Amino acid sequence: MTMLKQLQFTAAAVALSTTAVAAQEVEVLHWWTSGGEAAALNVLREDLSGQGVEWMDMPVAGGGGSDAMTVLRARVTSGNPPTAVQMLGFSIQDWAAEGVLANLDELAAEQNWGEVVPEALQRFSTYDGSWVAAPVNVHSTNWVWANTALMEELGIEQPTTWEEFVAAMQTAQDAGYTALAHGGQAWQDATIFDSMVMGVGGPDFYQASMVDLDPEALGSETMVEAFERMATLRGFVDDNFSGRDWNLATAMVVNGEALFQIMGDWAKGEFVNAGQTAGDEFQCFRVPGTEGTVTFNSDQFAMFAVEDADAQAAQLAMASAVMSPEFQIAFNLVKGSVPARTDIPSDQFDACGQMGMAQLAEAAANGALFGSMAHGHANNPSVQNAMYDVITAHFNGEYDAATAAEELVTAVEIAQ
Ligand code: GAL
Repeated sequence: MTMLKQLQFTAAAVALSTTAVAAQEVEVLHWWTSGGEAAALNVLREDLSGQGVEWMDMPVAGGGGSDAMTVLRARVTSGNPPTAVQMLGFSIQDWAAEGVLANLDELAAEQNWGEVVPEALQRFSTYDGSWVAAPVNVHSTNWVWANTALMEELGIEQPTTWEEFVAAMQTAQDAGYTALAHGGQAWQDATIFDSMVMGVGGPDFYQASMVDLDPEALGSETMVEAFERMATLRGFVDDNFSGRDWNLATAMVVNGEALFQIMGDWAKGEFVNAGQTAGDEFQCFRVPGTEGTVTFNSDQFAMFAVEDADAQAAQLAMASAVMSPEFQIAFNLVKGSVPARTDIPSDQFDACGQMGMAQLAEAAANGALFGSMAHGHANNPSVQNAMYDVITAHFNGEYDAATAAEELVTAVEIAQ
């Protein structure tokens, strides 16, 4: 902790700074480049611009954050880190361990972050007892997004078991539609894998395999079955899935070209951005087999320690804006996620948002809330990337399910 630099400015300086004339600037590295994501980010940009803080945009397209983290590493290596960076879970912890993140404790104490940020997020926002990141949201990843008109046309009821889910996709495929909209990118493959592991093995198995990295669980028959389900899903994806961006896959459901997409609730941001309403043109439900559990991730902004006083004040203005209740509502309505504070009423959120908030609280109370492996909240980036490689190789037919489970054991062992 001694390596973390203490920011000298407090919220008082933030207030003072708002009168300064355009001297302050944040350079923000992020991967929010889809329509819904950009609209959500704009809420933050406008908030800061209203405070006289200039926004220097550093977007890295690709979704899921893998490419953004590569760019970040290059920027830090060349001695020129951005001032604020979108980060997920264990990445925050890795950067904090390198001693390069700013300490936000004073602001956090003034604004009582410790009281309002759920424990599951604080585990990532704090390092060695100090605040190093401000959480913007909680996303959950075990959702199915469905086109209502297509379900009605095909006579499909909301599936509640894996068998019903497969039967629904078969119906869509037989009728000439794409059953499952998917983009063949490692993080997207991993996103659906999270739900297959949870769906087949349940919470204890998810914990043992994805979090505890128990080799027996990783190589078990249960894991083989999770891979078999991945192969089943692969059979419902269209021929052009390879490399497709996640939001283009969402657009296929929005347009009625595809029946379902398994994706985190950032997908809702795309439906909303297209003018659609939850429960009306589109439906959301938990991936069959994962009901009662929630796999989550939380986007957080970490600040890189800088010497310049104006830059520090801008960083604090941004962290302060991110944590304000008004912002958390405005942003998350657009983003598809739910607030990273426990004291926000759910009444302004749509049907999926309200369901998400209730299920998150319920899962947290029941010990059924787990960090998403695909989104960096179950294990560290090197293990995560090792898992990505095996999952994607299997999804593209390189291994059968039994070999994939064996490869997973080996890859995780090497990566640790
Ligand atoms: C996730 C991130 C979301 C969303 C998604 C697709 O990792 O938490 O906010 O942006 O990637 O880009």
